[in-house]
Amino acid sequence: MILVIAIDGPAAAGKGTLARRLAAALALPYLDTGLLYRAVGRRLLDQAVDPRDAVLAEAAARALRPEDLHRTDLRGPAADMAASEVAAIPAVRAALLDWQRDFAREAGAVLDGRDIGTVVFPEAQIKLFVTAALEERARRRLAELHGRGVAAVFEQVETELRMRDTQDSGRSTAPLKPAADAILLDTTHLDAEAAFAQAMEVVGQRIAE
Ligand code: CDP
Repeated sequence: MILVIAIDGPAAAGKGTLARRLAAALALPYLDTGLLYRAVGRRLLDQAVDPRDAVLAEAAARALRPEDLHRTDLRGPAADMAASEVAAIPAVRAALLDWQRDFAREAGAVLDGRDIGTVVFPEAQIKLFVTAALEERARRRLAELHGRGVAAVFEQVETELRMRDTQDSGRSTAPLKPAADAILLDTTHLDAEAAFAQAMEVVGQRIAE
């Protein structure tokens, strides 16, 4: 049986850290699907065109190469917003769907994103919706930015997260929302270790069922 674990949730909730740890513990491949949207947005920023241009964004999504995901300029305020803008375009999402499904085809996978449990893998055996209070998420993203030597202020980071969450939840195609059968994991008061322990408990239960 191929095991697929879908991890969705708002920005900076700790999905990536958790997904990476689960993948390592379970010896599964890991895909950060946000990188796909980031790489598409980045291509449009490079061309100095509007990331909301559906025709150019779809072309960029279809032209995406695996090496684009390794670019070092996929994070930061401009890339974050461009990712969210291209992600609202249905043709971009359609162009990236097979990429994500193919990734898990042979060996299963842990994937994190916004619509993994609802659209990309509605049949995933394990779905987690990872969230945390906005203030706590902004604190974590700020620490992450400072850790990378990027200058940022709390209020700006918090505003940017709020805007992106509103955009991601409000779009008509594949909006950010928990799948009906997702297990909610609120990490506001959990550190990475505790979140991992709780997620492993869920995984253990589901595998036993
Ligand atoms: O790391 P962070 O949580 O800030 O963002 P991300 O997971 O890298 O995703 C960046 C943007 O891509 C999100 O704001 C979404 O608009 C979009 N995205 C999406 O629409 N669907 C996914 N499966 C993953 C990301």
